[in-house]
Amino acid sequence: MRTNVVIIGGGPSGLLLSRLLSIDGINNVVLEKQSEQHVTGRIRAGVLESGTIEMLKKAGISNRLEREGFKHDGIQLSFKNHGFRVNLKKLTNKHVTVYGQTEVTKDLYSIIRKEDGEIINNAEDVLPQAVNTQTPFVTFKKNGIEKKIMCDWIAGCDGFHGISRSIIPKSIVKNYERIYPFGWLGILSETPPVSDELIYANHGNGFALASMRNNNLSRYYIQTPLNENIEHWTDEKFWDELRKRLPTEAAETIVTGISIEKSIAPLRSFVCEPMSWKKLFLVGDAAHIVPPTGAKGLNLAVSDVYYLHNALKNYYQFNKNDDLKMYSQNALSRVWKAIRFSWWMTTTFHKFPEQSSFDQRIQDSEIEYLENSVASQRVLAENYVGLPY
Ligand code: APR
Ligand code: PHB
Repeated sequence: MRTNVVIIGGGPSGLLLSRLLSIDGINNVVLEKQSEQHVTGRIRAGVLESGTIEMLKKAGISNRLEREGFKHDGIQLSFKNHGFRVNLKKLTNKHVTVYGQTEVTKDLYSIIRKEDGEIINNAEDVLPQAVNTQTPFVTFKKNGIEKKIMCDWIAGCDGFHGISRSIIPKSIVKNYERIYPFGWLGILSETPPVSDELIYANHGNGFALASMRNNNLSRYYIQTPLNENIEHWTDEKFWDELRKRLPTEAAETIVTGISIEKSIAPLRSFVCEPMSWKKLFLVGDAAHIVPPTGAKGLNLAVSDVYYLHNALKNYYQFNKNDDLKMYSQNALSRVWKAIRFSWWMTTTFHKFPEQSSFDQRIQDSEIEYLENSVASQRVLAENYVGLPY
């Protein structure tokens, strides 16, 4: 079997790249380790930048997004139970859209299937090979049978735990990493969200976030120590702690209910450089991870797809590979800005175990400055709605 581009991983990065390439008549095959049901069942953040929306429109999946997505013109920040608003719209003339990543993945799956794109689910032992030759290929097993796909290029869209990143020789790669000394305990509950807008709260007990999926589906998070046992967190205990951390007006009106999902996630910043080697390109979580505080994970994956899709299009339509050569550099320039922003949001809104009284004063003044300075709010707003591609 032969194709133009083999895409390893059928998460948001791989699916979006596949769809955009297919629209341009560039043949591709997606190899996904898990079943479709598994991939479309994962719950992830749901704040989309306007650049992301444009890309999803280009992919032809904007109908449901326009119907069911919620436009947010601002976010709420809170410090010691006192809330204030950052007006994203006024500061940037842009908004963000709240629409679950799970839904984006479902929409992409369904349009790719409808338009006869090729996704091979339950692909085992996927391995990119001969990446540094003119004849790269990918091997895998399907139902126990060995398969091989010859191709021109390989896109490693297989997430942080995928195989693709490990193909780049150790002598070439440099990894940058920060692991944060806490996690996020998140719940999903079929209750009306406490606020029309997201609330990011810094409190003496730690960070809290009030988010949502729709008018009757709320998503809440609280910062917890690493290695916290989730069994200790009954719904009641979670709601009590959340109430303590949110701004007073929100805490007083929150509607509680049974959690329909509860999990703890660690927080990490990670970047692998370069993001390409010979015939292989890394995209999305395969190359970088951000802590969820700035809601940048999916948006960053989409901007990588933007650069790679354009570069491949130039290659196939005009026989130019300059943009392919520049892919890593172009993508990394935007990646690092989002890494910085997510690190800053995390550092500003969480309690660190080793936080000294000096650190605390710096955090206090950072947030006070944010509340009172339009310039400071604009920096946050510009990054939150998404930097240009
Ligand atoms: N072979 C094939 N597929 C693989 C392999 C492998 N060896 N390893 C992982 N995968 C698949 C995973 O099952 C997953 O479906 O690759 C996909 C990677 O998807 P994500 O982890 O979602 O990464 P990405 O598509 O880059 O999306 C980035 O979406 O998932 C969120 O937190 C993530 O917000 C970030 C954004
Ligand atoms: C979410 O809704 O899950 C969410 C929203 C914003 C974030 C992180 C997660 O910054």
